[in-house]
Amino acid sequence: MTLRKYRQADWEEPLIFELGREDRVGFDVPSLEPELIDAVADITEFVPSGMLRTKPAGLPEVSEIEVLRHFIHLSQMNYGVSSGIIYPLGSCTMKYNPVVNEVLAGHPKMTEVHPEQDESSVQGMLEFLYKLKSGFLEVTGMDDGTLQPAAGAHGEYTGILLIRAYHQNHGELDSRTEIIIPDSAHGTNPASAIMAGYKTVEVPSNEDGGVDLGALKSVVGPQTAGLMLTNPNTLGIFDENIAEIAAIIHEVGGLMYYDGANLNAVMGKCRPGDMGFDVVHVNLHKTFSTPHGGGGPGSGPVGVKALLADYLPVPDIVESDGIYSLSYDKPKTIGKVHGYHGNTNVMLKAYTYMLSLGGEGLKEASELAVLNSNYVAYKLKELRGLSLPFGEGKWRMHEAVLSAAEMEADTGVRALNVSKKLLDYGIHAPTTYFPLIVPEALMVEPTETEPIEALDEFIEAVKEISELAYSDPEEVMNAPKNTTIGKLDEAKAAHPKTICLSWRTYCTMAP
Ligand SMILES: Cc1ncc(COP(=O)(O)O)c(C=O)c1O
Repeated sequence: MTLRKYRQADWEEPLIFELGREDRVGFDVPSLEPELIDAVADITEFVPSGMLRTKPAGLPEVSEIEVLRHFIHLSQMNYGVSSGIIYPLGSCTMKYNPVVNEVLAGHPKMTEVHPEQDESSVQGMLEFLYKLKSGFLEVTGMDDGTLQPAAGAHGEYTGILLIRAYHQNHGELDSRTEIIIPDSAHGTNPASAIMAGYKTVEVPSNEDGGVDLGALKSVVGPQTAGLMLTNPNTLGIFDENIAEIAAIIHEVGGLMYYDGANLNAVMGKCRPGDMGFDVVHVNLHKTFSTPHGGGGPGSGPVGVKALLADYLPVPDIVESDGIYSLSYDKPKTIGKVHGYHGNTNVMLKAYTYMLSLGGEGLKEASELAVLNSNYVAYKLKELRGLSLPFGEGKWRMHEAVLSAAEMEADTGVRALNVSKKLLDYGIHAPTTYFPLIVPEALMVEPTETEPIEALDEFIEAVKEISELAYSDPEEVMNAPKNTTIGKLDEAKAAHPKTICLSWRTYCTMAP
């Protein structure tokens, strides 16, 4: 196989202020009507004199084509699911966002409404939110829910507050103080539990990668408020003991929280509601194909079993005779967790995705995601220096975690170096050093849309890197070389005193 040549190192784009020249005009602002000139003069009277401009604002003086080229160049220096062969960032489900989602989300009927409008004038918006919630409840097997939370972590926090409200209403707020969390969990799980006022108790994983049942039994008791779990977990392994885990927690009066960030593995195949979970969040910005790079807006709707429905945030959208309206009728509500309805634009993309795939399509997406991940995992496992810890011989789900511990011991090349070297091939780095229970972890999630050629290209690149690690380890350790910015000092690059992010003319803190 011929690997694509990738070289970005020579690219340099000037700052927009360095382009163009004095008095060049990109856009002519129409001159003001005489009455507006008077109005501006009137307003100016109220601005303190020290705050008035004495010279024109220092804007770049560029023509339209220069602006266009500048931003197109910058976008090409960026990396995204639509530009690279594979974006294997595990635990993130960086899946392709079909263009139709964007087209609908950009429709003026959706972008030009305001949440303060009268309900009668936003029936379409309310209808789609109502139907999205129904679809979400069907996929998760829950009875009721809220679309408000703006991210997975926000959904977790909301879900734990619901568990807390439930115990409070049962007079057990002070006695149930602990949330149990497996050691393979995502860091947001303990963070959410602690923010909601709980103490966290960690349970170890067994050699199959699931929860160690003996250890779980030894920590549950009347102090248990609940357990947070993602299934499949961050090792990409489905915990087959889930019904027994739920029984252990329910037996002591605790509640089961499902972190749905990994739903891409099981959509349409099995439902957290049927596994024994009482509350669940799903990351629409992962499983339902809405982009979430760079910390952009997300959506983490929460679903609950009937026993928690009274505590859900308000307002809820209800329907009667085909008319949609907002309802605040929840006396025990935990209140609002987001302004209005949450990030509706993200939700619209998710809804479009759900409708365009349909039930069978969602199921097939999960099946392909699992197939792709196993194809990659079991090919990579054979490469020198790599292994697939936990769950010997078990199928992985939508993602898999490899270990480069042997490579490090043999050659000094670490998981971090393998990830950085992949950038030289124009491939995004996998998630590195997570979950914490795998030494030198490389967590790979190819997702369902990658064709086999892309997967093979990725596997071939890792193979070349593994061979290079054993023949010329320095070469791997000094990567990347082909990117606009080469190997960085990880500590310095993140330190506010040495990193200079301002326009270079003003930068006084050269590293
Ligand atoms: C397993 C798991 N849980 C929770 C989260 C938190 O989701 P978010 O980033 O939307 O807050 C993530 C994010 O990567 C995750 O992988």
